[in-house]
Amino acid sequence: MLTQLQTEQLRIDYLQPLENTKELKNSFGHDIKEGLNQSQKKIPSKYFYDDYGSQLFEQICELPEYYPTQTEADILRKYAEEIAKITGICELVELGSGSSTKTRLLLDAYNQKNQVFKYMPIDVSAGILRESAIQLKQDYSSLQIQGLVGTYDQALTQLESTSWPVRMIFFLGSSIGNFSEIDYEKFLTKISQVLENGDYFLLGIDLQKPKSILEAAYNDSQGVTAAFNLNILTHLNHKFDGNFDINCFNHQAIYNEKTQQIEMYLISQKPQEITLKSLEFKVKLKEGEKILTEISRKFDVEKTQHHLASTQLNPVKVFTDKNNWFALILCQASK
Ligand code: AVI
Repeated sequence: MLTQLQTEQLRIDYLQPLENTKELKNSFGHDIKEGLNQSQKKIPSKYFYDDYGSQLFEQICELPEYYPTQTEADILRKYAEEIAKITGICELVELGSGSSTKTRLLLDAYNQKNQVFKYMPIDVSAGILRESAIQLKQDYSSLQIQGLVGTYDQALTQLESTSWPVRMIFFLGSSIGNFSEIDYEKFLTKISQVLENGDYFLLGIDLQKPKSILEAAYNDSQGVTAAFNLNILTHLNHKFDGNFDINCFNHQAIYNEKTQQIEMYLISQKPQEITLKSLEFKVKLKEGEKILTEISRKFDVEKTQHHLASTQLNPVKVFTDKNNWFALILCQASK
């Protein structure tokens, strides 16, 4: 239970839906129909994350083959204090905070200064956001928390200017790798617009490495990633009254060396017709036909630094692990 004072320092707000946008149309399944009507059929990755999908993702992060989570946590363990020293006390804004597990490593570093500081976790899942915010408030007494429920787009459009001298937005886990090239560009531009001169942006990116290591990370031996991938179909069945039979699909993840991205597919095991009743939508699949469910781009540090700098997000320092598998780039907005 939180005390009266603790409750006053914890707020959860809901972001407004963006009107007349793609996002609004997509809430009525527009993106599903569009994706499944293309010659290379696609389902947007955001549909992975129903409650069960989010649980499966947490399990993926614990897998021995899935190195990004632990590697990024090791980097934070080693360098969080240095990051806090560079930025000084600031308002911390986390995009896609989830259960905020890794965030604690950063919060610990800021907490050492024993001054009040503010954390704004932003996530689409109100349940996880509230639970982790309550837990954090109990563990960090000098922390003010204002959670925002909504998408990245909503957050970056509606984030109010801060009363704190400095703000740091952070985006961990290489989630930026799941954006298409176009969305990646738009996202960085938006970050740059939202930040004031002197504010910081901390970005986690998974780096290019041998195919065998990458493919093992997305084809784990316990089959958790396969279950995560197939669950996207179960989610669509629930959401849009569909008839996907997950036993008629196989999981496949390959590293495309040309585009430097992992591509996750679901492969139809027979000719079949899928109906999504509430969307009044039908689609035929051939035997062996693949549906693309995710791309996970792998980055080059130098190129990414140049790119960030060209978006007025000047890299201040790059933190990496001993294998150079993952990097955290700390940038400062300079306009
Ligand atoms: C959330 N995102 C960064 C993960 C990734 O590695 O691209 C999602 C994931 N898909 C399969 N395993 C993990």
